[in-house]
Amino acid sequence: MSYIPASDKAKITAPALQARKGGEPIVALTAYDYPSARLVDEAGVDLLLVGDSVANVMLGYESTIPVTLDEMLLVSRAVRRAVSTALVVGDLPFGTYHESVEQAIRSSIRFVKEGGVEAVKLEGGRKRAAIVRAIVDAEIPVLGHIGLTPQSVHRLGGYRVQGKTIDAARALIDDALALEEAGAFAVVLEAVPAEIARLVTKRLAIPTIGIGAGPYCDGQILVYTDLIGLSFGHTPKFVRQYADAKSLIAGAIGRYAADVRSRAFPNEAESYAVAEGVSDRLLEIDGEDVNASVDERTA
Ligand code: KIV
Repeated sequence: MSYIPASDKAKITAPALQARKGGEPIVALTAYDYPSARLVDEAGVDLLLVGDSVANVMLGYESTIPVTLDEMLLVSRAVRRAVSTALVVGDLPFGTYHESVEQAIRSSIRFVKEGGVEAVKLEGGRKRAAIVRAIVDAEIPVLGHIGLTPQSVHRLGGYRVQGKTIDAARALIDDALALEEAGAFAVVLEAVPAEIARLVTKRLAIPTIGIGAGPYCDGQILVYTDLIGLSFGHTPKFVRQYADAKSLIAGAIGRYAADVRSRAFPNEAESYAVAEGVSDRLLEIDGEDVNASVDERTA
């Protein structure tokens, strides 16, 4: 099974990204299928996350909770076939690492073997540290994720900014240090005040990758559909939309529908012609009963 399209750029690895701490900012983005992954990789993005946000933005679920590992594997295989340079990270879905260390290792190994990812991401800090250590011991790099962790939406009571009080900020720093200690190669900080993200970034020897965490992180990540303007529903204030794909696509579909209805599509250049001399023969059979058998029509 060969996943690697030809490219002259060096493949980005987890240790290589870890070594970027404090250097050139890490550019990370999600992708969910072959076309989006091709575009993300060819744009030179460093880390491509097969995010469990696929649940909301591509599969129409209300949260990330329902998406299964099998669904993530289908998506990650398509992504992996498209990527030649970026580090591909698979997002462990809810319920695939919460039961036990053994379950977490099994899920991560499936993600790597069947999904082709090169690292996994999981949500949570100190309480997931033993799991992070075990997955790293199974030779799989781990990207941590703290702050607003969407898989905890029911416990948190909504999607809220985290780490706003002094106690919450201390807890966030402890979570980040626990992930580093457990062997994570980098940590995603989601929806935390910029000042707290700056503090965490300063305290860690591994990179922080922010999403709604201000400008002081070692890198930034966004959801692909938010960036290109293809998300439906609420878009968080931290998103910068760089294109309006929704309008572009809706306009194209509208023009196509109008052309079909007015018979402007397809035109001659968009249609196939018969071989030379066949047109005249077609005139002969024009008017014949098209439901008659070939024998009846050629008799
Ligand atoms: O699934 C996701 O999109 C994420 C974000 C950190 C980008 O986890």
